[in-house]
Amino acid sequence: MKYYSIAIDGPAGAGKSTIAKKIARELGYIYIDTGAMYRAMGLYFSDNSISLEDETVIAKACQNVAISITFADGEQQVILNGVNVNGRIRTEEAGKMASMVSAKTAVREKLVELQQELAKTENVVMDGRDIGTKVLVDADLKVYLTASSLVRAKRRYEELVAKGTECNLSDIEKDIIDRDYRDMNRDISPLVQAKDAILVDSSDMTIDEVKDKIIELFQNAIK
Ligand code: DC
Repeated sequence: MKYYSIAIDGPAGAGKSTIAKKIARELGYIYIDTGAMYRAMGLYFSDNSISLEDETVIAKACQNVAISITFADGEQQVILNGVNVNGRIRTEEAGKMASMVSAKTAVREKLVELQQELAKTENVVMDGRDIGTKVLVDADLKVYLTASSLVRAKRRYEELVAKGTECNLSDIEKDIIDRDYRDMNRDISPLVQAKDAILVDSSDMTIDEVKDKIIELFQNAIK
């Protein structure tokens, strides 16, 4: 049986997860948030104070990590060694840690395999940094979703303010620029637009406009 897949890559804060989730709901597909898996892996390394200096230590640590996902009310839940860590992975610190561990070969090998397995048995919308270039190279549609760093920082700032978190716009923009740099310049699977991906710049678009645009691109792609 043929399973359809939509791959959405792009830098931090471009709106990938909000949009991917909406598209998945509309199409009745499963939404897979691969960043959440790297965040859980980052948590494991920081909870256990494992150094990121030595590749052998990292590879050994990866053997002790079991990451899986389940769904509750359509929301992806990440299970790290038997514990649901969804409540702990959404901080700025977890994002930074995820970006650091995601540059490590052993970490990527483990998570890419899990992601590829998930797409073999479901229609999926998957978002991340290497979905179109590595995880689902045969995806039916590949989108590279971006927005200017200031627009992305403002969106993040508004989300944090709405949650009552004290924050500073220029610090957030700096963190975003640093994270983009790390994700785009690592040796293994750096964030880059796949040759066959369609660029969507969401700077001046609403969430629903982006969602509708991607669904239209997908319907055309599978015609
Ligand atoms: O999408 P996010 O902010 O939750 O991702 C957190 C970090 O994980 C991101 O800075 C880079 C890394 N990541 C990755 O390298 N590959 C992916 N497919 C998804 C995320």
